Amino acid sequence: MNMNVKALQRFLSQQAGLAFPPEKAWLAESRLQPVVERHGLPTIDALIGQIVSGFEPQLAAETVEAMLTHETFFFRDRLPFEQFRTTMLPDIMRLRDSVRRIRIWSAACSTGQEPYSLAMQLDEEARKLNGWRVDLLASDISASVIDVARRGQFSQFEVQRGLPINHLLRYFHRVGEYWEIAEHIRARVEFRQINLMSNISRLGQFDIIFCRNVLIYFDDKTRASALAQLASALAPGGYLVLGASESLPDCPDDLKPLSFQHSIFRKAETGAPLERHWAQPGSRLNKR
Ligand SMILES: C[S@@+](CC[C@H](N)C(=O)[O-])C[C@H]1O[C@@H](n2cnc3c(N)ncnc32)[C@H](O)[C@@H]1O
Repeated sequence: MNMNVKALQRFLSQQAGLAFPPEKAWLAESRLQPVVERHGLPTIDALIGQIVSGFEPQLAAETVEAMLTHETFFFRDRLPFEQFRTTMLPDIMRLRDSVRRIRIWSAACSTGQEPYSLAMQLDEEARKLNGWRVDLLASDISASVIDVARRGQFSQFEVQRGLPINHLLRYFHRVGEYWEIAEHIRARVEFRQINLMSNISRLGQFDIIFCRNVLIYFDDKTRASALAQLASALAPGGYLVLGASESLPDCPDDLKPLSFQHSIFRKAETGAPLERHWAQPGSRLNKR
């Protein structure tokens, strides 16, 4: 195989934290070949040479994009979403009663099914949340999935995956061959492109973070530093929800497992005061 696997590994780890074991070289080949052809390059090695030179940011972005996995569906694994409604939200409402503001983050949202599932649940709790401000941020490293998510249009296949029929009828309408999510649900979500490898402290603190099915793609070092960042981005008493198959081998001290089975963790209620709860001045999150 004509491919500098080590250079590609280093590049993907630096750019997106992606682990890429040599035995998965075949996967890189099949995913990168279309990028090679689109740019008229002779080989994958030539592509790797250009991206590591640092002079081809567009090519580098396309290469990272090609290596990402965006698999997602509505109410994925169901139980974390039930827990969101029955446990996390009531707990957080109790804790934030004096400020009546809740901040939620879907930190690797792919094409939007996860944050829209949360937004539909918030809508169902509208009566209880009357008088509350609930900010729902959804982000992903990939600009292309953020564009798709923002459009809020899903195929027949996508709405058949995990979305209960009553939610489809209540919150979606047909636009040509797509199902479009209701505007009041779409407007609940603020979508942004954010790399979990970057410094996320500028986002302020959140009460509930869904960071599901992304850490599994990271190498150990990146996973540990992403988890440390997520833990400090949680407000006291806040919840961190990982993917069903993800665990915290080195659980940060202030996070306690609520449900190992469903990979839900909670930060101690006491500890740092709430002043970091709000995003820092100048952040878009503060201006809504
Ligand atoms: C498998 S999807 C999971 C989507 C959703 N959370 C779920 O559980 O259904 C993983 C997402 O993580 C995103 N991702 C990968 N590396 C990332 C990084 N360094 N920062 C932010 N998002 C990343 C990918 O673009 C992809 O959309």
